[in-house]
This record gives sequence, structure tokens and C-alpha cells, in this order.
Amino acid sequence: MEVLPRRFPPGFVWGVASSAYQIEGAATADGKGESVWDEFCRRPGVIADGSSGAVACDHYHRMETDLDLLTELAVGAYRFSISWPRIQPNGSGALNEAGLAFYERLVDGLLRRNIKPYVTLYHWDLPSALQHEQGGWAARDTAYRFRDYAAIVARRLGDRVASFATHNEPWVTATLGHEFGLFAPGVKNRAIASQVSHHCLLSHGLASQAIRAVRSEVPVGIVLNLSPVTQATQSGPDVAQAALEDGLLVRWYMDALLKGNYPADVLRHLGADAPRVEPGDLQLIAQPLDFLGVNYYYPTVAHAGKPATPAAPGAPITDMGWEVAPAGLTGLLLRLARDYRLPPLLITENGAAYRDRLENGRIEDEARRQYLESHVRAAADAIESGVDLRGYFVWSLLDNFEWASGFEKRFGLYYVDYATQARIAKRSAGWYAGLLRAFNAAAAAVRVARP
Ligand code: FCB
Repeated sequence: MEVLPRRFPPGFVWGVASSAYQIEGAATADGKGESVWDEFCRRPGVIADGSSGAVACDHYHRMETDLDLLTELAVGAYRFSISWPRIQPNGSGALNEAGLAFYERLVDGLLRRNIKPYVTLYHWDLPSALQHEQGGWAARDTAYRFRDYAAIVARRLGDRVASFATHNEPWVTATLGHEFGLFAPGVKNRAIASQVSHHCLLSHGLASQAIRAVRSEVPVGIVLNLSPVTQATQSGPDVAQAALEDGLLVRWYMDALLKGNYPADVLRHLGADAPRVEPGDLQLIAQPLDFLGVNYYYPTVAHAGKPATPAAPGAPITDMGWEVAPAGLTGLLLRLARDYRLPPLLITENGAAYRDRLENGRIEDEARRQYLESHVRAAADAIESGVDLRGYFVWSLLDNFEWASGFEKRFGLYYVDYATQARIAKRSAGWYAGLLRAFNAAAAAVRVARP
């Protein structure tokens, strides 16, 4: 513990992350419109425990005391998302003042506590009206609606936030939402999914421009879910499958954003299902990023003729079945730095679900603590190898609504007793706070030595 905090540069940003639909609840409060997740959760059988985010952690009504937990953790930053249907209930037109006021209180509450707000504009809760009226992200027009929403938020909050990320994990929106149908809106069509991925990226470009037009000084970026992809065996077909999976998950997004093109092998693979791209789209998508957010959980294992798996056989796994592989994080960051001209990086999510047990009022989540410590070490390894990594955010502040897994999977540093909405610090929270206090003390000492 003594050495670990000193392996990070003094300005390094430490935080925790959350997202609107997973914690806020208050699904219809104060004029909020319906989102595709509100609607998706009503379909029988799609959420493991039949639950929804209608109440979740009731964060909307407990925001101030939840912000106190951030102070307790000693974090310098909080990454949260804004619910588009709270701001524009139907996804376009007039703004809902009460929704904006909530996020204004949230941002001001963070600043009062000396915590930097890292805002994500889209963490999957599309206003339902856009889905019904025009097919959601399958429609090009939705990218323009997103641009308008981004401009509204930038005008209102842009003077106080540390950064805007346009999308969280557009691969999930496109592939889990529109190809596998496991997430909202539950579409199963590869051609639509590829068009959705293009429209999400296009909307990133349009929104970035709109934000910069309003607030040129605010850093703008995007958050991707990236994994190193390995092959199940060294056989030719598995190796070829791994190259393709890497193309679909990593290069599709990274090449578009940083090189201004889609990878030729993936376009060939998609064939007639490749997206319609209009002239100028890729230039819009590939405008400069002020930062790139990387969400890392596990390495992907590719198998010819079968879906990829989130773990090698026999490897240690979390309660999600995701492999615990901290070296995968270092390797991923080094590979990105080798293959792309990168902006500064942030690890915008990293964490683990385990079956926490509340015993005598305590949660001894040693497995999660070890997961986090090993990944923080892996991040330090990457920095020491020359990667320009500027921050690390634990997923997540609170146990919350884990999408199709409902409330069965717990990722929080704080345990949530959903019957009472009590928050209880897990052992991992105490460990993280200790690390950050040691880091803050070391950073302050550096500031004194070099005024
Ligand atoms: C990521 C999501 C986040 C959370 C974690 C476990 O893909 O961005 O909302 O569900 O996984």
C-alpha cells in the first residue's frame, strides 16, 4: 500500500462511476419521459429477476447523502450519466426544467465537495418516443436529436463539468441491443445493429461539434468497452476468429474514431449488412478526441463457429463469469498505444461482481478488493511502460440494477439493502479510500516540495 499510490503521477484522477438508469429510480418523477430500458424491462423474461430500474437505488431522492459517500471515499472525481428522457421527455424539442435542475444540483453538490464531475451523455436510456417514432438509433435522424440534446446540456452544465463523454460503450448499444437482443430495445438483426453502430458514432461526432461550439474549453471524448481478444486454441480457424472479433469489438470503433475508416476485414465480413455511410460521416466521427475512456473487465476468448466467451476454461472468474485477468488491462493499453495515435486515456470503468454477504453489519469482500488492487497495479504497470493514462474509475459506487442481470449481481463499493435503501461500506470501499488518502498525501507532499 505504501508504494502503490506513489506509482501514479500527482495529477492522476481517482474516481467511481455509475449510470442514470442503474441507480436513479424515480422513473416517472418530475416530468421524466419513458426510456427504452423502462419499456424493455416490462417484457417478460428479459431481466433475470424480473426487476427493473423503476426504483433501483432511489438515488434521485437520495442524491445528497450519496454524494457524502464520495467524500468518504476520498475520490477526486465522479463519473455519472445524464438521463436523456429527464432532459427531453420525448427526445426532441422543449427541455424539461425539473430534469435539468436535478443534474444541476448534482454537479453543484460535487463541486461543493471538491469532486470533479465527469459526465456521460448517453448510457443506454434512449427516450422511447424516438424508438417508436423513428426506430431509435437505426434512424439517422436520432444522431441529430442527440446533437441537440448534447447542446442543451453543454449550455447548462458546460461551465462546471470536468468533461463530457458522448456515448458509453456504443458496441453494447449496437450489438447487445440490436443484434443479440439481450439489452434494450431487444432487436435481433445484424444489419440494423451495424447501422446503429454507425449512427452512434456519427452522433458522437455531431455532439462533439455541438458541445465545442457552446463550450470550447470542455474536454470531449467517448467511452468504449475494450478487451484484448485471445483465441481458444492456436488452430487456424480460432486465430482467424480472434482477429475478426477484435475487428468487431475494438478496431471497428477505434479505427473509425482515430483513423477515420472502418476496418476492411470487418466490412467484408458484414457484406450486405455493412452500414450505409454518407460522404463526410467518417470525417465527422474522427474529429479530435480530448480523451478516450476505456472500460475494462475481462479478456475475450474467441472460438471458431461459436460465440466468444468472457473467460478461458479454468481461469478465476467473478460472479458474472468474467475472467479475472489484470495483465489483460496492461496488455490492452500497450496495444492501443502501439496501434493508434491516442489522446490521454482514462479507465472509466473497472470492477467486479461477487456474491456479497452481509454478516454482522459488515461485508468482507476480499475478492473484490483483490480484483481492484490487481487492476490498479496493472494500470501502474501501463503508465510505467509509457501509456498516457490520466485516471481510473471503479465500477461502481453502489450496488445497482445490472441490466439484464437485474439486482442479482453486485458491483458496488457500497452494499445496498434494497428493502431499506441503506448503504453499507464494503471492505473494498475502505481499502480504496485508504489508497486514495495515501495518494492524496503523497501528491500534496510533491506540491509542497515543488511549489
Ligand atoms: C459495463 C456498463 C456498466 C455496468 C458494467 C458492469 O458494460 O457500462 O453500466 O453494467 O458493465
